[in-house]
Amino acid sequence: MRHFLDINKTAPEDLRAMLAQAHAMKQARKGRPRGAPDGEQPLKGRMVALIFEKPSTRTRVSFDVGVRQMGGQTLVLSGSEMQLGHGETIADTARVLSRYVDLIMIRTFEEEALMELAEHASVPVVNGLTNRSHPCQIMADILTFEEHRGPIAGKKVVWLGDGNNVAHSFIHAAGQFGFDFTFSGPEGLDPEVEFIEEARSKGARVEIERDPARAVEGADLVVTDTWVSMHDSPSLRERRHSQLRPYQVNEALMARAKKDALFMHCLPAHREEEATSAVMDGPQSVIFDEAENRLHAQKAILRWCLGV
Ligand code: CP
Ligand code: NVA
Repeated sequence: MRHFLDINKTAPEDLRAMLAQAHAMKQARKGRPRGAPDGEQPLKGRMVALIFEKPSTRTRVSFDVGVRQMGGQTLVLSGSEMQLGHGETIADTARVLSRYVDLIMIRTFEEEALMELAEHASVPVVNGLTNRSHPCQIMADILTFEEHRGPIAGKKVVWLGDGNNVAHSFIHAAGQFGFDFTFSGPEGLDPEVEFIEEARSKGARVEIERDPARAVEGADLVVTDTWVSMHDSPSLRERRHSQLRPYQVNEALMARAKKDALFMHCLPAHREEEATSAVMDGPQSVIFDEAENRLHAQKAILRWCLGV
């Protein structure tokens, strides 16, 4: 059975095949209404559960629409409304849901919850974000980069700000797709060492550069994300803001990257905090292509998981 739990747990050739299929499916739908069925209906007769223990706009809508375009059906469930939020174990939830549905996508807090679900489910499980990683986002981001600039291998990706779940999945991707990754943020907010060491062991160049201006030199892609994530205590806000203000992505910083560097943000963004509107809405920004590509990338992930 194929779970999609993390980019480092999926073979590079499978990741590549998913991106190629995502691109082809995207092209095949060009100009058609969003609700129109795909020519092929690979998920016909399949039921997909989408569980959210945290808020979501993109993940929720893109998975739901993607399954429907491919002929499947969805159940969107909020963790707090399930018995899962009231003491039923994850293992029992996994066993029960596996009797009703063909695939489970979950957005949750602890990575252990995702792993336990996958261990006890007899259907594929997809990671829709945990405190530690967000692999579906990065598949969409690689698709987006390559649509605009060609192969990402050997390119320089620079992450500004908090070394969070999205940063971690970028580091996984550096190892699997062979690009360089530079993290630029304050001490104490670095990505976990385990991610960095694993990507390095696969041959990726992963660096930490505290000076944001130096970090973005030669960058092909500049990326940032919110300074306070959903799993972070809101009480961190003030401290995070004072720590991370020097890492804001603004026009002056973008001007130090390569001329044709792209700007990405997984969204939701806090405009004028981690990035200025001038950058987000500027010519180098591909943030809404990233959002769209969640749909196409995830459709390919679902097909891979289900072998259809
Ligand atoms: N980027 C992303 O996962 O967005 P949502 O939180 O809206 O799903
Ligand atoms: N780092 C953010 C990503 C949101 C899609 C969070 O976890 O809140």
